[in-house]
Amino acid sequence: MSQVERVRRIIYSSRATGVNLRDDHQDILAVSRRNNGMDGISGILWIRGDRYLQLLEGPPESVAGTFSRIADDARHRDVVVLDDQLAVERQFGDWAMAGDPGERPEDASLRLRGLLRNADGEVARFFDPA
Ligand SMILES: Cc1cc2nc3c(=O)[nH]c(=O)nc-3n(C[C@H](O)[C@H](O)[C@H](O)COP(=O)(O)O)c2cc1C
Repeated sequence: MSQVERVRRIIYSSRATGVNLRDDHQDILAVSRRNNGMDGISGILWIRGDRYLQLLEGPPESVAGTFSRIADDARHRDVVVLDDQLAVERQFGDWAMAGDPGERPEDASLRLRGLLRNADGEVARFFDPA
């Protein structure tokens, strides 16, 4: 019998605390891509106003370790878990951490739509700007 990969998927929101959120976001994405690539984690990190919204998915023990580091990070607070479950499929398998690197906010919603194109509706709705 073939073994089905189980991925733990956490979606949380938080409030950014920094003064230069764009720089923080870039720094976080760079470190995340390095670490997550080694840890088998994929996902998306989005910022809207001063709210972060992140989806992390990967081997349960990797996700637990990464999420506990993130929860202790002083660059944000008020971390609220919106969804936490074991899934059989990744939503963002191509991305060690997708994010919004754009200079122009008007490009962001287009990019988000592209990233969510293949995601399950129940996941996409967390990122819906509405
Ligand atoms: C909103 C937010 C999201 C983050 N996402 C990740 C992540 O996906 N992966 C990761 O390794 N670190 C992430 N971090 C950074 C961690 O809190 C921590 O600084 C980092 O993992 C430390 O890595 P290092 O020990 O390699 O320097 C995030 C931080 C914040 C504030």
